[in-house]
Amino acid sequence: MPATSPQRRAALALGLVLSLAAAGGTAVAAIDAAKVEKDRHDNFHKIGSAFKNINDGLKADKPDTKAIAAQAKIIQDLSGKIPSWFPKGSGPEAGIKTRAKAEIWSDWATFGASAKSLQTEAGKLQTIALKGDLDGVKAQVKATGGACKTCHDKFRGPEIDKDHDH
Ligand code: HEC
Repeated sequence: MPATSPQRRAALALGLVLSLAAAGGTAVAAIDAAKVEKDRHDNFHKIGSAFKNINDGLKADKPDTKAIAAQAKIIQDLSGKIPSWFPKGSGPEAGIKTRAKAEIWSDWATFGASAKSLQTEAGKLQTIALKGDLDGVKAQVKATGGACKTCHDKFRGPEIDKDHDH
């Protein structure tokens, strides 16, 4: 039986270290889909309440356009992050309750463009609101809502649980 050379033993040890590192890397890369979904949901609710605040604000006798601009900024900032809320593996295949459609990942470029379009519209809304141009604000709120709808129509599935307070 040939004696294992020190070099060979060192090579075996290195191989073991490398495979452990690879296994560790996999564990780190694996996502907790349920947590991703919860955070994503919370973030969309932040966008949803900012948009609701804008629409409610417009019902006032003298709408506070500065306050509307501040809410538009919240939407602008959050919409830039939307793609990061959808890591691969956090869709319906994860077995979680989600309205995210598989098309998000199969048509990732369009999904990203839809998020970008909301960011652009919300940015315009902020600018117009800061000028205090109320008619302009009303028109731009419609355009902003249109950006939500375009993405929802293509990438969001039907409601899962009607009792849930969405
Ligand atoms: C780029 C695509 C995209 C844009 C733009 C977008 N959404 Fe969504 N939205 C989604 C997807 C996908 C979900 C479902 C996420 C899930 O269930 O995991 C969602 C979920 C939501 C939810 C959570 C309630 C639910 O379960 O459906 C709210 C509220 C919401 N969106 C509001 C808005 C509003 C308001 C806007 C515009 C100001 C907007 N969204 C723009 C893709 C988008």
